[in-house]
Amino acid sequence: MEFTCKSFQNRSYKIYLERDVLEQLDSILQSHQLTGSIFVVSDQTVFRIHGKKLLKHLKNYTVYPIIVPPGEPSKSLKNWNKIQDTLSDKGADRRSVVIAFGGGVIGDLAGFAASTYMRGLAFIQIPTTLLSQSDSSIGAKVAVNHTKAKNLIGSFYQPRFVLTDPSLLTTLPKREFAAGLGEAIKYGVIADLELFETLYENMEMITARNHGLLTRLLTRCIAIKIKVVEEDERETGLRKILNFGHTIGHALEQATNFSRLRHGEAVAWGMLAAGWLAVERRMWDTGEFEKLKSILFRAGCLFPMGKLNPKKVFDALKHDKKKTGDTLNFILPERTGKVTIVSDIKKEEVAKALRFIFQLKPPKLRSAK
Ligand SMILES: NC(=O)c1ccc[n+]([C@@H]2O[C@H](COP(=O)([O-])OP(=O)(O)OC[C@H]3O[C@@H](n4cnc5c(N)ncnc54)[C@H](O)[C@@H]3O)[C@@H](O)[C@H]2O)c1
Ligand SMILES: [Zn+2]
Repeated sequence: MEFTCKSFQNRSYKIYLERDVLEQLDSILQSHQLTGSIFVVSDQTVFRIHGKKLLKHLKNYTVYPIIVPPGEPSKSLKNWNKIQDTLSDKGADRRSVVIAFGGGVIGDLAGFAASTYMRGLAFIQIPTTLLSQSDSSIGAKVAVNHTKAKNLIGSFYQPRFVLTDPSLLTTLPKREFAAGLGEAIKYGVIADLELFETLYENMEMITARNHGLLTRLLTRCIAIKIKVVEEDERETGLRKILNFGHTIGHALEQATNFSRLRHGEAVAWGMLAAGWLAVERRMWDTGEFEKLKSILFRAGCLFPMGKLNPKKVFDALKHDKKKTGDTLNFILPERTGKVTIVSDIKKEEVAKALRFIFQLKPPKLRSAK
């Protein structure tokens, strides 16, 4: 299946979604007239498991792998620097291509590095996690983290194309798969009642990675993400709805030093808090909120937060880029499949929502790995 994400200034790009589409990499590169040296940015885990397979399809090119440790701390200026160093040491030129081969961390890091070297090298996304296939590889946002806040240093940079091969997900650890579901569930709440119902009815088959359901899920998430970013790539309005669950989610990630919770898990907790706020404000139906809670529990994406100091979470909220004045912006559901921006959420309301999620006890659904 092929999707096109329209972008301004001739920067539209295709998303190729198909099982084993990785095998077509060489011919797709050629069809895009990309023939220069290739810099593959990946993390140690992904490259250990899938690196050989990737390189097999790149044997007609000069390839330089740039490998970083797995995990959120790798989305750093230090690694951005490492990539720039390798690009210049190996003589990258305007014909060179940067391939991100990994999850959202690698996509964001490699994309930002590609966007800055010689004012922009050709960039390709080959996402390998559920989160990156359903969400982060589309939409052109690339960034690294700063100690003060997530994604603080970044740009908008479109890939030449995205190669989405669901067969890469078979090796994804259970916890990472569940975290990816967190972000995918978001699409149901913000834009697609039918997807929400599918998740509610079939969560057990989805967590068992049923191929048909997984493809359906990816298709819907990709289509929604394209629709939203086509309308508002630079996030001046509509794109903000993609931040459902992210105000508190980002604060939880930061308050736990980006190490305890995966991004999708933090977003899952953030969606629960936002959903609770919407019910408190009588904006959203309690029954629908209970359904969301059930979906998130059964998906296994509510990983225990551990002991958390609410003050630390509040301090982290202060750095949230979406804050205006003394109140906070939240994306809240009006009904399932439709959210709206609410900009007068008070600190006390947030404190209550935090208390609500802090006292929830997720069932032990799986081991930590
Ligand atoms: N740019 C955007 O629009 C956007 C949107 C959402 C999230 N994000 C960012 O994405 C990041 C999270 O991405 P993520 O959840 O993909 O995390 P990740 O990139 O850290 O990958 C998660 C883990 O899974 C491992 N892994 C990846 N693919 C694998 C595979 N096929 N088999 C086995 N192991 C595999 C990795 O080594 C890593 O340990 C966050 O930094 C978040 O801010 C960006
Ligand atoms: Zn996110």
